[in-house]
Amino acid sequence: MFTIYSDAGNVGGPGKGHRLIDSTFKRTLVLVSSGGAILLLLLGAWYWVSNGGAGLLGGPKSTGRALIGGPFTLTDHEGKTVTDADFRGQHLLVYFGYTFCPDVCPLELQSVTEALEQLGPKADGIVPIFITVDPERDTVPVMADYAENFHPRMRGLTGTLEEVKVATRAYRVYFKKGDSAEVDEDYLMDHTSLLYFMGPEGDYLTHFTFGTPPDEIAKRILKHLG
Ligand code: NI
Repeated sequence: MFTIYSDAGNVGGPGKGHRLIDSTFKRTLVLVSSGGAILLLLLGAWYWVSNGGAGLLGGPKSTGRALIGGPFTLTDHEGKTVTDADFRGQHLLVYFGYTFCPDVCPLELQSVTEALEQLGPKADGIVPIFITVDPERDTVPVMADYAENFHPRMRGLTGTLEEVKVATRAYRVYFKKGDSAEVDEDYLMDHTSLLYFMGPEGDYLTHFTFGTPPDEIAKRILKHLG
């Protein structure tokens, strides 16, 4: 079951500063807390169907390939080309978002930071990966600045829009540029907010929905590490 979490919405425009952040965040809480579950279920169902989810339930695919994850080629925050294969042998925490995200992305990445800190040395083999859905603004230097805020091991990945689309399709992530921005640079992005935990063979292990507390993330990761 997948749910979409849209953190962007239709608030936009220049110069609104914290008011924008506050109102977006409040709407976040309202969405999540009151009746949000139903909405999320509906969105999830829509997303499932619109992404060929029915095919996953017994379509022609019979290769045994993981349903989440897959090949991608992107550029890391040091400007190096990386593919999914470069991460074999390591567990990954994969999150898609964008650095201009006012609340959801930084909150979720902060949870990643805290979960990894709680795990301590047990997390040494886990690489947190942040893949932008906004490559237009999230250039290599922007990603470098951003990723280092959260974890020394965090890899910030960007690329061309087409490369990013390949990665989002592999992870079944929805994203869309907000269409309400009055000033172009101020646009927001709608995007799925799920944190994926991937195994050393690139295999999907589990995912965490937005707002999962860091200690629960840590606990569930630990279970998978055995
Ligand atoms: Ni976000």
